[in-house]
Amino acid sequence: MILLMIASLLTPLSRATTFTYPQNFQWCVATAGHQIEGDNVHSDWWAWEQLPGKIRNSDKSGKASYHMDRLDEDVTWIKKLGANTYRFSIEWSRIEPKPGVYDSESIRYYQRELALLKKNNITPFVTIHHFVQPQWFTASGGWRRADAPEVFLKYVQKIESEFGEHINHWVTFNEPSVLLLGGYGLGLMPPGENHWDLWQPTENILKAHALAYAYLHQQAQKRQQKILVGLAFHIRPLISGHWFLNGLIHQADELTNWSLPEAIKTGFMKTVRFKNFFGLKIPWISTKKIEGLANTQDFLGVNYYTREYLKLTWGTPWIERLPAPGLVGTELLNWGIDPEGFYVALKIAHDKFDSLPIYITENGLTDPSDKYRNDYIVSHLAYLNKAMQELPIEVLGYCHWSLMDNFEWIEGFTPRFGLIEVDYTTGERKARPSAQVIEEIFKSRELTYKINE
Ligand code: FCB
Repeated sequence: MILLMIASLLTPLSRATTFTYPQNFQWCVATAGHQIEGDNVHSDWWAWEQLPGKIRNSDKSGKASYHMDRLDEDVTWIKKLGANTYRFSIEWSRIEPKPGVYDSESIRYYQRELALLKKNNITPFVTIHHFVQPQWFTASGGWRRADAPEVFLKYVQKIESEFGEHINHWVTFNEPSVLLLGGYGLGLMPPGENHWDLWQPTENILKAHALAYAYLHQQAQKRQQKILVGLAFHIRPLISGHWFLNGLIHQADELTNWSLPEAIKTGFMKTVRFKNFFGLKIPWISTKKIEGLANTQDFLGVNYYTREYLKLTWGTPWIERLPAPGLVGTELLNWGIDPEGFYVALKIAHDKFDSLPIYITENGLTDPSDKYRNDYIVSHLAYLNKAMQELPIEVLGYCHWSLMDNFEWIEGFTPRFGLIEVDYTTGERKARPSAQVIEEIFKSRELTYKINE
């Protein structure tokens, strides 16, 4: 009897819940052109990879994941996984290898890709800019060029005219904060600047987005086509490791994670500016109104991987970035597996952007041996579902990063984010065991998981 009573007291705590997703939910796998296609020779990343010391093990994207050579097979994989949506990017430098000169072979390639997806009933979710620019654009000043927004708009006009009728979901920019910090702050990606003067490139990217948003909608309206246009933001909530740093970390969190989506909501950009003060460059946070920017996103795209716990250390780099206490970090990158952090990120998104629907545009982990991927997928989808029910938030779809192993930017080929494993010497593909888990969830629209309250 006593045992029974104890059991009934414990049951509610240990019970797993079945989470169900809406009928029209978009189940998606995600990639980006430069990371998978191969031979992206006119891109600034291609040139960057040739420089010594830029990429782990001096890896070069080369054939990447051989995607261009294996397009048909890859669409079959997407289908097999049960995804009804595929997020991928169009490479600007393929379409426009020289200023104003368009490459018809590349255009035909993307047309073929779109046709294949259509044939398989897979909705294309297309990223226009995913970190990579043509070499000529970067060499001529990149996002510092006074006319950068207009130059970008011309590319958008071209791809819209070629592919627009087949695309209802657009991401203009992937993770602009990462591009700005990595390319203009830390010098880790092209153009490799590291003087932290982010004002001008930030303004130009926001303007470029606003122009693209207006143009895509104007064209869609002419065709009476219903489209959704947004961006994909890297959201990585920061946790302060010391009470006396709470204020500072909160500011950093607001700036890195939320200042760009908020700029697009309000029309006011907010970023660090430098002022010359008796020969010293003094940073301060400044704001500016950008014409035509307010309310130019139809959804909030959230790329969530982890939260970051920041702690002071003795000696450089003075600040350590760690998984939240008690959490396992992934191999190599040491990103904490933190599904609760996903809920936290979505709660903040809900508080800040309550009227916008959300797409999870990326979520995943590097896990070569596939030891954690099952649990990662199920736990993150469970917390996502909890956020949908409890907050509540409207989530239209979930994209897993990534369909297959790929060229992970400065980390080269070492990280393995794929549901599908790629043999980089032959291009051969093999499903990892967790691909089966995603397939079951995508096809049944439900999963069972125990959330510890
Ligand atoms: C995101 C990028 C994506 C990939 C994943 C692991 O920040 O958008 O291209 O590199 O991280």
